[in-house]
Amino acid sequence: MTTADFIRGLPKAELHLHIEGSLEPELMFELGKRNGIALPFKSVEDVRAAYAFSNLQDFLDIYYQGAGVLITEDDFKDLALAYFRRVAADGCKHVELFFDPQTHTDRGVPFRVVIEGLLAGMKEAETSLGVTSSLILCYLRHLDEDAAFATLKDAEPYLDRIMGVGLDSSEVGHPPSKFARVFKASRERGLKLVAHAGEEGPPAYVWEALDLLGVDRIDHGNRALEDAALVKRLVAEGMTLTVCPLSNLKLCVVHDLKAHPLKKMLGLGLKATLNSDDPAYFGGYLGANWTQTSDALGLTKDELVTLAKNSFTGSFLPPQTIARHLADIDAYVAKGS
Ligand code: ADE
Ligand code: ZN
Repeated sequence: MTTADFIRGLPKAELHLHIEGSLEPELMFELGKRNGIALPFKSVEDVRAAYAFSNLQDFLDIYYQGAGVLITEDDFKDLALAYFRRVAADGCKHVELFFDPQTHTDRGVPFRVVIEGLLAGMKEAETSLGVTSSLILCYLRHLDEDAAFATLKDAEPYLDRIMGVGLDSSEVGHPPSKFARVFKASRERGLKLVAHAGEEGPPAYVWEALDLLGVDRIDHGNRALEDAALVKRLVAEGMTLTVCPLSNLKLCVVHDLKAHPLKKMLGLGLKATLNSDDPAYFGGYLGANWTQTSDALGLTKDELVTLAKNSFTGSFLPPQTIARHLADIDAYVAKGS
């Protein structure tokens, strides 16, 4: 069995996926046409050619522009279903997906339209593809905390269908401390908490996410490696890091996949997971992240199995469901060896 085949069959979860970042140029054009929205690109090839980023902000500018074609519930449902079809083929069994409501409500698309469309796509994915999922609402950190509070208010009628909240968008200059009150309010409503930290921002932002926000997971966390005391803390707490190698490559967080710190993270005892972030923009879905990273770093079978197990033990699934997925992984490995 090739490594790619082994990876495809290995049950795994995706814990770091922005659904707006799964908008492929083909669908972008289709939705633009459907909704009468002109795009500043002539063709799908033109769009792809524009995906050359030097940093996170370069990407975010084009990502928010692309999301402008999403208008109706059906648009959000189609977007979600297109993503689920691709990851189901990669052997993904569960997804905890981010969505950015403010990107849409600021354009006049109601919160209700966004979430109802996504929930419809998630439901259909579970029935037709067998992939389970839950939603993580992300606050945009380049906006102020009052805007985040307004989004939490929009979410009130849907709190039973939202697993948690996250923090994304432009990291540097927008430390976690800016959102301490809205994270506290979110926790009080029973929501799980995650935050992007240490993607471009310094280790201090990871400390803040832990100490001031009280997060349950860190998204990315690459720059934590610059601070030995922080690594020690993350290992001691068994804190899950949702690492995204192809994203890191495309956004110049690393300059070569061979230099990616994932293997080092595992060696240090950090609970790393492997994820795609914004697959339509970064050159690959979950399976491509796994195979390309495994090839570049020479990940062993044991390391691949650890990553798969971390993706479930780091998830917000109930303990019995996690146990079932772990047993499936063990059965798969036993059958193959
Ligand atoms: N929004 C979408 N993808 C993101 C990323 N990688 N970092 C921060 N915000 C994002
Ligand atoms: Zn992200």
